Amino acid sequence: MEILRHAVVLVHLTGFAILFGAWVVEAVGQRRITRLMTWGMVIAAVAGLALAAPWGIEYPLNYVKLGVKLVVLLIIGALLGIGTARQRRTGAVAPALFWLIGILTFLNAGIAVLWR
Ligand code: HEM
Repeated sequence: MEILRHAVVLVHLTGFAILFGAWVVEAVGQRRITRLMTWGMVIAAVAGLALAAPWGIEYPLNYVKLGVKLVVLLIIGALLGIGTARQRRTGAVAPALFWLIGILTFLNAGIAVLWR
């Protein structure tokens, strides 16, 4: 069970890497929202929700922390959805919206690692 949980953590981190990596590429480039970001978010979300259940561990989970991470993820998802739609319509995405996606993704990784 423990090894399976570690494998799901690996998938979770891969989703984070895809989301944040795709965002960094755009941050130094065209500042557009790409499908890769949405894919990374979906992968991180599915694996994260699987990890939010207490299996394969002998310590209690911090549900306040997980709740905060879930809220931040939902905001990232909403921003990606709104941004993708606006970009399709107008050809560009508002800078504030673009930067917020990266900042909130980094914030969630910070919460994951620093909040014990
Ligand atoms: C964009 C959104 C997210 C990012 C960037 C992110 C990032 C991370 C990172 C970097 C870790 C590894 C930290 C460590 O093990 O020290 C982690 C672990 C974890 N994440 Fe997330 N996460 C996100 C969303 C979520 C969501 C929505 C949930 C569930 C509600 C979640 C649940 C967990 C759990 C339970 C762990 C610990 C795994 C374990 O050690 O068993 N994450 N996350």
